Amino acid sequence: MLNEILSIKNLAGEEIKKACNLKDIQDIRIKYLGKKGVLTGRMKSLGSISKEDRPEYGRTLNESKNFIEDLLNRQEEQFRSTELNQSIQTQRIDVTVPGCFVPFGHLHPVTQTLDEITAIFISLGFNVEEGPEIELDFYNFEALNMPRDHPARDMQDTFYINDDVVLRTHTSPVQVRVMEKNIPPLRVIAPGKVYRCDADVSHIPMFHQLEGFMVDKDIRMTDLKGMLELFVHSVFGIDTSLRFRPSFFPFTEPSAEIDISCVICKGTGCNVCKGTGWIEILGAGMINPRVLEMSGYDPDLYTGFAFGLGIERVAMLKYGIDDIRLFPENDKRFLEQF
Ligand code: PHE
Repeated sequence: MLNEILSIKNLAGEEIKKACNLKDIQDIRIKYLGKKGVLTGRMKSLGSISKEDRPEYGRTLNESKNFIEDLLNRQEEQFRSTELNQSIQTQRIDVTVPGCFVPFGHLHPVTQTLDEITAIFISLGFNVEEGPEIELDFYNFEALNMPRDHPARDMQDTFYINDDVVLRTHTSPVQVRVMEKNIPPLRVIAPGKVYRCDADVSHIPMFHQLEGFMVDKDIRMTDLKGMLELFVHSVFGIDTSLRFRPSFFPFTEPSAEIDISCVICKGTGCNVCKGTGWIEILGAGMINPRVLEMSGYDPDLYTGFAFGLGIERVAMLKYGIDDIRLFPENDKRFLEQF
């Protein structure tokens, strides 16, 4: 009987030596020491051993159990540490490898310019309003003193949706929409997209404008000049000069086109300013009393100024871009430069 236990012990010892991995160790542990294990079976039958033989039998059983357990634990420990080392080797992270570069996007140069200009006028106390891009003929033309079939409409090549609906050709209709709903004093800017049936190096069918207007008692041309000067100096620098040229818009009287001294050649003459030293950047004027009247204001009581500015034009001058068509193309090589 004792010999039998000793040979179980030796057999277990052999098997443990031959074990190749943790799984083998686990199997051997179950085989000998598990609930139905070889040695466990012997332990259970201890009661059937005669009293005299029992102590020695019990001791041998215990010693063998401890021996096997000890051997299993040591072997298991061995396997665990080699496994750990292996995984450290194979899953090693090289912290010196450069990380994956995730390129960041940024705002479109037109949006950047629009945001910059908007911020300037907000700092001057202007509120931002928006109007629809699909606009009624009434707001786009009629209420701005451009009746149907009036030749002044030819100034803007219009996309008509039907007789009464157009894609707005400018942001000026927002003037009327705001005046209809509010009483002066008004100090408003209206940025947004506008549409004209026009395409070449300096025209695209969809572009951006920023309308600005102020209506109150006693608003004068000098207020317009002061605001525009401040705006031009903020965007193009303090040494940029302004020039007001008489012009015509049906919705302003008097009207002016405003030029700035060429930001490229500083006024000496280059191909951007066509040798004149001046570049036109916006249209403006005192809001025509007829427009005030059509919007429900008493033109004897209130006066106002308005101006309309092409955003792409400002961006082109600011960044030295010579073809307006680059903006909607969205070629990353172009956009990444801003
Ligand atoms: N709406 C005019 C245009 O698009 C610009 C403008 C706005 C002129 C306001 C005068 C006053 O050409």
